[in-house]
Parts: sequence; structure tokens; C-alpha cells
Amino acid sequence: MTPPRTALATRLAQAGSRSDPATGALSAPIYQTASFRHPALGKSTGFDYSRTANPTRQTLEQALADAEGGHRAFAFASGLAAIDATLRLFAHGDRVVVTEDLYGGTFRLFESLLRPHGVEAVYADTSDTEAVRRALADPRAKALFVESPTNPLLKVADLRALAALARGAGALLIVDNTFLTPVLQRPLEQGADLVVYSATKYLAGHNDVVAGAVVAASPDLADRIGFLQNAAGAILGPQDAWLTLRGLKTLPLRLAAQQANAQTLAEWLARHPRVRRVLYPGLPDHPGRAILLRENGGAGGMIAFEIDDPARIADILAGVRVFLFAESLGGVESLITYPAVQTHADIDPATRARLGISDRLLRLSVGVEDVRDLLADLENVL
Ligand SMILES: Cc1ncc(COP(=O)(O)O)c(C=O)c1O
Repeated sequence: MTPPRTALATRLAQAGSRSDPATGALSAPIYQTASFRHPALGKSTGFDYSRTANPTRQTLEQALADAEGGHRAFAFASGLAAIDATLRLFAHGDRVVVTEDLYGGTFRLFESLLRPHGVEAVYADTSDTEAVRRALADPRAKALFVESPTNPLLKVADLRALAALARGAGALLIVDNTFLTPVLQRPLEQGADLVVYSATKYLAGHNDVVAGAVVAASPDLADRIGFLQNAAGAILGPQDAWLTLRGLKTLPLRLAAQQANAQTLAEWLARHPRVRRVLYPGLPDHPGRAILLRENGGAGGMIAFEIDDPARIADILAGVRVFLFAESLGGVESLITYPAVQTHADIDPATRARLGISDRLLRLSVGVEDVRDLLADLENVL
């Protein structure tokens, strides 16, 4: 009997819970094996060697493809491994138009690994559709790589408009959906070809695993990413696949709590006398808010804000008692980060200054704690 088509939260809560017909285990088993016994010469159970396919990883990949509305998904050892596999689709002489205020590690991948191999990144403000149109006019542009909202400035792109531009230019649209996840943003439904993730963040959600994912819209792209996953081999191991699968089950609940907390904190920060500006797409004056409300479920759990005096940054980071001073984001614990020195140190100072990643800018990844404790902590350090 075909199960009824259920809501995303229902499917995520039960991800993998029907994956083991042998025992009926509700929690998908962890197949901690490198290899699989062949039933006979020329016969296979469907699993031969875990780099190529592993049942635990496959259960996660099926859940991710289903959640995103993609043809197939692929789980990698980290977000950067997933992005690296995706960018191996391009060759010497190709150009990729890339969001200019990008996660620093992705910037480093483009500049230090791809540029020497002749794949050139051209940076554009992807929240400015006209700027993207100009960048895509170059016939060498083979792809548009977009982070939205961006890390760390929370700029929002009109993915539907960008997908139409990319299609017109014969370029692939690749979206890093790490910040909003399929719960709040659906790039494939808006016309993207590939979605990439640092699954380390919201998808896994507990700051206990490093993982990545690629979701392909079409069978052709799925075949090519599947080939690259096996050929280069940066796969996610079974234990980490299981942790990510377990995290996925509560993703909608966690994000709802994180988003509600973030909205409260952003509104409070916007009124604080020591805060110069707050970047959060859920605030009424944020230029990306209308796009997010039109397309998505909300603004997510990330906030960036500038304080009045950069000399106070060290004291703020040392003084927090509820927020944790740490890199990363998307977990249940609230984190505070200083992008200029941590996540975005690989972007040169002049570019950081031009983009607005200033020495006054702090980034919050808002967790699921009681918002009164988070407010009191910020009040105390500010
Ligand atoms: C938006 C975004 N994409 C990709 C990555 C890279 O992912 P990972 O750290 O899992 O390799 C990060 C990491 O912070 C990120 O924030």
C-alpha cells in the first residue's frame, strides 16, 4: 500500500523509520561496515563497498532528497566536500558567478583550489538581480553559485528571478541553502539545479557532527554528482550519517524555536543604544524581507549586528555566559562569532571592508534556549 503524501514535518519526524524491513527497527540501523558479502559471482545485494553506497548513508540521502524535493541527494564528509564535488562539474576556462559576501571557506575553495585550475569565480551582489544579469552576460559563465541569506551579512537573493536569468544564460543555478534549509526555503521549486548544504549546521542541528550534502534536481545532474562522490570519495561515514538523520527529525521544531528567539533578539538589539545596525531579514526595514515572506516560511535564526565601539568586542566575547563564543551555527546552543577574525578571515581586509564585514560586526546563531536568558546575557555584555 502506498503511504499517504504527508507534510514535510511528518516525513522528517519519521525519516528512516521504515528503512529496516528485516527487524522493523524504528531507528535506522548504523551499518558500520566497509564492505558487503556478494551472494554469488555477478550478484550484489545492491551494496558492495561503502564508498559507493552504504545503507545508513542511503537512508539519510533519501530523506534529504525527499525533504528538498530533489531527484537524488548525496551526503559528504563536510559542507566544503559537498561544495567541492559540485564545483568539479566545471573545467578550465569556465566562470562561476558567486555571491560576494560568501562563507570564507567557500571563498577559499574558489580562490585557492579552483582558480589555479582555471575555474574563475566572478563575485557579484546576488541580492541585486541586475548585477547578476550583467555578470551572467559573459559567455564563459557556466554557473551561478548563490548563498541566501548570505553569511554573515544576511542579504537575501530573489532565487526565482535568478533561476530565470541562469536558465536564459545556459548556466546552472547552485544554491547554498545552509541557513534556511528546506523547511524555510525551497530553491529547487524556485528553479535551482543543485542545492548544497553544510549539514553540520541546521540539518544535523546539535553541533556534534561535520557533514555536507548535495541535492540534484535532475537525473542527469544526479548521475554526475553520484559519479563524483564515488570517484573522489569524500563520503559521510555511517555514524555521522545516523547523527544527521536523527537531527533531521526535529529540524522543523528547532528552526521554529530558533526563528522565534531570533526575531525577539533582533527587535531588542535594534532598539539598543550601543548597537549601530542589525541585519536580520525578519526586521521590517530589511530589504530582503518581502522576498522571504513571498517565497518562504521565514527569516531563520541568524543575526548579525554592529556595535558602536569595536574596542569592546574582546570584552563582549569574554563576557557572555549563555551564548558560547564559538564558530559554526545552526545548533541548539546559541553561539556568538566575530566574522572578521574567524569565519571570514580568508577574505582579504580590503574586500571585507568593501562588503561591510567590519571590525564592529558580530554574528549570532540563535539556539533554542529560553529567550529571557539570551536577552539577559546580551544586556549584560552590551
Ligand atoms: C553557508 C555555509 N556553507 C558552507 C559551509 C561549509 O561547511 P562545513 O563547515 O560543514 O564544511 C559553511 C560553514 O560554516 C557555511 O556557513
